[in-house]
Amino acid sequence: MIQRITTGDPAGAMLDAALARAFDALRAGVADHRSTFRTPVLATIGMGGAPALRTVVLRGFDPAARCLHIHTDRRSPKFAQLAADGRAALHGYDPQSRLQLCLHGHAVLHVGDAAADAAWTASRETSRMTYAGTHPPGTPLRAPPVAPTDAAAGRAQFGLVSFTFDALDWLMLDPAGNRRACFAWAADGTLTATWIAP
Ligand SMILES: Cc1cc2nc3c(=O)[nH]c(=O)nc-3n(C[C@H](O)[C@H](O)[C@H](O)COP(=O)(O)O)c2cc1C
Repeated sequence: MIQRITTGDPAGAMLDAALARAFDALRAGVADHRSTFRTPVLATIGMGGAPALRTVVLRGFDPAARCLHIHTDRRSPKFAQLAADGRAALHGYDPQSRLQLCLHGHAVLHVGDAAADAAWTASRETSRMTYAGTHPPGTPLRAPPVAPTDAAAGRAQFGLVSFTFDALDWLMLDPAGNRRACFAWAADGTLTATWIAP
């Protein structure tokens, strides 16, 4: 159910179109290697409370659940940060369409369960190799490490992040007038949508 704070069309219909466009961009991020939404920035709350940012790859999207999947090394700082506080945000910007999306929500972590197994099984050898390094991400080294060769060794380090967003900030840059909308889902799934000042 959509509750709009705006009144009447065409503003309401434009909100529907804006949300559809955002979801299309997220679908493209998963499916299209050339999409700029393929590699958004994931923000977490660092251990000292400071913000922490890094680029990630979108690996899956369930629009009905508003859930995005990200693969990572369970030994990484971001994994520990999300285990301590699941609040997270995801940011992407496509310079061609001039669309910025900021998603806010919660992450759930999967290691060695059915969801992680399915993600590992679906991942490619080159991706699996990412997790096969001997040293946990962030470990100080005397020199860049030798690339791992045994992708299967990455299985134990593989982690799946399921990020469910309950707010979406939509901004479209336009010489004719920038447009910005805010979408927020309540716990029962009710959506409130409104245009806001850019
Ligand atoms: C294009 C690109 C894609 C990346 N994708 C991922 C990813 O999907 N998962 C991941 O854990 N790290 C990914 N990284 C590396 C992270 O940005 C980061 O450097 C690393 O995960 C350590 O992050 P942390 O110390 O905050 O945990 C990617 C980096 C780049 C440049």
